[in-house]
Amino acid sequence: METTLAIIKPDAVAAGDAGNILAHLEREGFEILAITKLRLGETQARAFYEVHRERPFYDSLVEFMTSGAVMPVALERDNAVKRLREVMGATNPQEAAVGTIRSLYATSIEKNAIHGSDSPENAAIELGFFFSRAELLAAGR
Ligand code: CMP
Repeated sequence: METTLAIIKPDAVAAGDAGNILAHLEREGFEILAITKLRLGETQARAFYEVHRERPFYDSLVEFMTSGAVMPVALERDNAVKRLREVMGATNPQEAAVGTIRSLYATSIEKNAIHGSDSPENAAIELGFFFSRAELLAAGR
């Protein structure tokens, strides 16, 4: 079993799509280990997306990610990191395969409904950004 982090982004939360996205993930075999809802501050959003700080879209991304509530979700299944990225679809919803979360709920390459960790190493770092080890260990299994 492997764990990964998803974040339901402000566009999808505001659109009322969080429940459908969580159901989609459960149908795909992910167990929800922990979930929360919060609004990121600028410092937090900049820190979370630190790896993208040199990208031209960094400031806009930070503004978007702080524009409303997000829902970080700790997910578990076999091959969770890779499977989540497949289920999410391509970053740009116009390139996302039919039936993927981004094909269904994203509206642009920035407002793309969901984030997923891109490697097991980053999953560990990103899970730790939102959830304590105690919370993850306490998840009812
Ligand atoms: P995410 O998977 O969370 O990782 C970085 C985010 O930056 C990405 O999803 C998009 O929300 C955003 N992003 C990536 N590429 C672009 C781009 N070319 N223009 C604007 N936003 C982008």
